[in-house]
Amino acid sequence: MIEEIDFENRIVSPEYTSAQDEAEISLRPKTLSEYIGQDKAKDNLSIYIEAARKRKESLDHVLLYGPPGLGKTTLAGIIAHEMGVNIRVTSGPAIEKQGDLVAILTALNEGDVLFIDEIHRLSRNVEEILYPAMEDFSLDIILGKGPSARSIRLDVPHFTLVGATTRSGQLTAPLRDRFGVLLRLELYTPEQLGQIVTRSAGILGIPIDIDGALEIASRARGTPRIANRLLKRVRDIAEIQFDGIITEKVAREALARFEIDELGLDDFDRRMLKAIINNYGGGPVGLETISAAVGEEAVTIEDVYEPYLMQIGFLTRTPRGRCVTPACYEHLGIKPAGQQQLI
Ligand code: ADE
Repeated sequence: MIEEIDFENRIVSPEYTSAQDEAEISLRPKTLSEYIGQDKAKDNLSIYIEAARKRKESLDHVLLYGPPGLGKTTLAGIIAHEMGVNIRVTSGPAIEKQGDLVAILTALNEGDVLFIDEIHRLSRNVEEILYPAMEDFSLDIILGKGPSARSIRLDVPHFTLVGATTRSGQLTAPLRDRFGVLLRLELYTPEQLGQIVTRSAGILGIPIDIDGALEIASRARGTPRIANRLLKRVRDIAEIQFDGIITEKVAREALARFEIDELGLDDFDRRMLKAIINNYGGGPVGLETISAAVGEEAVTIEDVYEPYLMQIGFLTRTPRGRCVTPACYEHLGIKPAGQQQLI
C-alpha cells in the first residue's frame, strides 16, 4: 500500500504550492544587480541588453531553461525592467487556441517582453503561429474555410519572447532554433541562497543572523523559492516558540519539526531512495519503475526531484536506469548489501 503523500503541500516543493507563494513576488529583485547568483547567465544577459539598448532595438528572443524555482520568471521581469519595456506573462497550457496567441501578440507594444512559462507545453497549432511572429514579426492568419479561405498577413510589434522550460530538450527543434539567446539556470550554492535568505528577511522585516540564514539555505535544495518558503515557516516557529530571532539553533529545531534533514531531503526523497535500495538493490532501475513504486509522475521525478539528488551526488543516471550512490547509503544509515554480508 502506498501511503498518501500530499505533493501539493510539500514544503520543499520547488513549484508554486499555495497563494502564499504569490507573496514571493514582492521578494523578486527588479534589476540584474540585485539578482544573486546565476553569474554566467547574468553576465551574458547584461551584455546583450546593453547592446540592444545601444542599437535601440528589441532584445533577441531568450530561452531560459533549468529546474523549477530558480528564478526564470524573475529574470524575465528583470529583462523587461532593464530594457525599459512592459512584460506580459502567460504560459504554454494557457494559450489554447491560435486566436489566444494572436490576441496576445497584437496587444503588445513595441519592444515589449512576452514571457511564456512552460513553453514546451504549447500546442503545435499555436507554435506554428509563433514561428513567423518570432522571425519576421508578422502573423499569417487564415480567414474562412474551404475554397473561399484567404490568408492575410498581419504585422505585430517587435517584441522579445522569453520562454521558460524545465528542459530545453522538450522543445521542438524549430521552436528552439528561433531563440537567439539560450541560458541555462543552475541550482544555487548554499552561500548564494544564504544571501537570498538574508535579503528576503530584510524585505520582510524578519530578524535573522548569518548562521540562521545559512542553516535555512543549506536545506533549500539549491532553490530560492524553497529557501524563501522555509524562511517564512521558520519565522512562525521562531515567533511562537522562541524570541522571534532566527538563529542557527532556531532554524535547526524548526526544520527538524518539518522533517527536513541537514541536506534538505524530506520524507518523499527518503522514501524514493529507500525504495530503490530495498526493492532494486540500489539500482540500476528504470524511471517508470520508480514512478510506480512511489506513486509520483515520472516527469515530476525527473524534472523536480532528481536534479538536486544528482547535484549532491546521491543519485546517478545511467543508460540502464537510476543508481543510488555510496554517499546516499551513508546518509540514510543503510549498509550496501555486499557490506552487510561481510559483517
Ligand atoms: N529571490 C529569488 N531569487 C532571487 C535571486 N536570484 N536573487 C535575489 N533574490 C531572489
